[in-house]
Amino acid sequence: MSKENWGSRVGLVLAMAGNAVGLGNFLRFPAQAIQNGGGAFIIPYLTCFLLMGLPLLFVEWSMGRYGGKYGDHSTPFILHNVSGGRSLWKYVGVFGIFTNLAVAAYYCYLESWTLAYVWRSVSGAFAGYDSAAVSQMFTDYVSLGTSEPIVFWIICLLLNTWILSRGLAGGVEVAAKVGMPLLILFGIFLAIRGITLKEGVDGAIYPGTEGLNFLWTPRFDSIWDFKVWLAAAGQVFFTLSVGMGSIQCYASYLRQRDDVALNAMSAGWMNEFVEVVLGAAILIPISVGYLGVERVIEMTQTGGLGLGFRTLPYLFQQWGPILAALAGMAWFGLLFFAGITSSLAMGTPVMGFLRDEFGWKREHAAWVFGGLTLLLGAPTVFFFQYGVFDEYDYWAGSVSLVVFAMLEVILFAWVFGMDNAWAEITRNADIRVPIIYKYIIKYITPVILIVVFLGSLSGDTGILAKIANKDIYAEIAKATDPTKIAELEKKRLFVNASRWLLVAVFALIAYMVWLADRKRKREGYIPVIRND
Ligand code: ALA
Repeated sequence: MSKENWGSRVGLVLAMAGNAVGLGNFLRFPAQAIQNGGGAFIIPYLTCFLLMGLPLLFVEWSMGRYGGKYGDHSTPFILHNVSGGRSLWKYVGVFGIFTNLAVAAYYCYLESWTLAYVWRSVSGAFAGYDSAAVSQMFTDYVSLGTSEPIVFWIICLLLNTWILSRGLAGGVEVAAKVGMPLLILFGIFLAIRGITLKEGVDGAIYPGTEGLNFLWTPRFDSIWDFKVWLAAAGQVFFTLSVGMGSIQCYASYLRQRDDVALNAMSAGWMNEFVEVVLGAAILIPISVGYLGVERVIEMTQTGGLGLGFRTLPYLFQQWGPILAALAGMAWFGLLFFAGITSSLAMGTPVMGFLRDEFGWKREHAAWVFGGLTLLLGAPTVFFFQYGVFDEYDYWAGSVSLVVFAMLEVILFAWVFGMDNAWAEITRNADIRVPIIYKYIIKYITPVILIVVFLGSLSGDTGILAKIANKDIYAEIAKATDPTKIAELEKKRLFVNASRWLLVAVFALIAYMVWLADRKRKREGYIPVIRND
């Protein structure tokens, strides 16, 4: 069993905040907000944060610390313990390893784009190009026009592996202590530039406040739109990293006397500050300032994640070469720090499982995680244009989070029991958790999660339609050009193959959990209980 601890409280909170603050805050949030009508998105988003996000943070932090008491650092056996040894729950815990691995597989690729774009910004690669050419540079990049994406992807994987091999206090915590302050500094610089953008200056056609108004003028009609609620819930999950299994893992390295309530609140609110204050004040105001709301909405229809790569480097050029290089470095540097502190958190549960159950050394476990991310990530790199990347994001980065969160909150509140759960949440707490959360966690959060899950099954864009590839068939039906039809058929094959691959990975992890369980039984495993 691994007996690691966090080095300091500041380090822990920064690492947890780093886990949450990620590309989701700066790329996914603006894209979701734009696609879902700006101000129409904010009310469901904040409601989901208060009624699902915060409660799940309390649940996951306390489940993690509880699991750590018995020496467990990944969700299969954390859930096993919380359930009082009921065997089925360990297999629910498979989600908490699977999701991390599958999200890391495409996330590290996305993270590597930011590294490449730091390099491009510093080396002045965008100078003299018009907006269409800069956007095309991104298309060429993801179509692997050169070997640059592969090189940066490998560098990124190596960096992750190396930091993970140095452990929590010596690696992850150091990365968070360096990365988070820099990220906030860069974020403030860019947010000030975004908000103070003036109409008619440096080519801007609208002031920075145009984009902010679009986002922050609430539209109450949206509360009847189920699709917007789903998107808001999905964003809250993704951004807080709840339903993934990484929070439980990080929290399992707490000492038993440590607080979870205040720590969970601090990391959660820090994430929200970065998302709704900084995240909202950069990409939207700058791109709307130069392109207008309509054009930006149009650009996010074909995938919002690329917006920050397609538009900002060109817009920064309007500020003169020096400021453009600085802004590019700040923007992509910020994205890189946001990304790596999240991908490190995705590696830790995989490593925790291998170390706990099979006695692997930290370095070996880190290399295995790096290797698996490479193998599983390869299809997202090489077949990006066939939708493999988006497919991973859909199943691992959205659906799995909701399913796992729904099951774990039922486990904690109803199987472990709400009185026990509340005692865990408030044990050694440095704040008084409002008692209303006891009832929210017991009734409201599970009910909303069940509704969200059931609601996401049906409809034109629902899970069932997705499984039947309705979207691709609809495109095929519309297409007239035989080459286009052949491409879409190929896309369908790749999409199906990537789903089977994900299913196989899930099954493999479940098999390893079964092996681990058998090993524990064979060896008559008795946990060493931590009371530190
Ligand atoms: N929570 C991480 C993000 O927002 C995964 O990117």
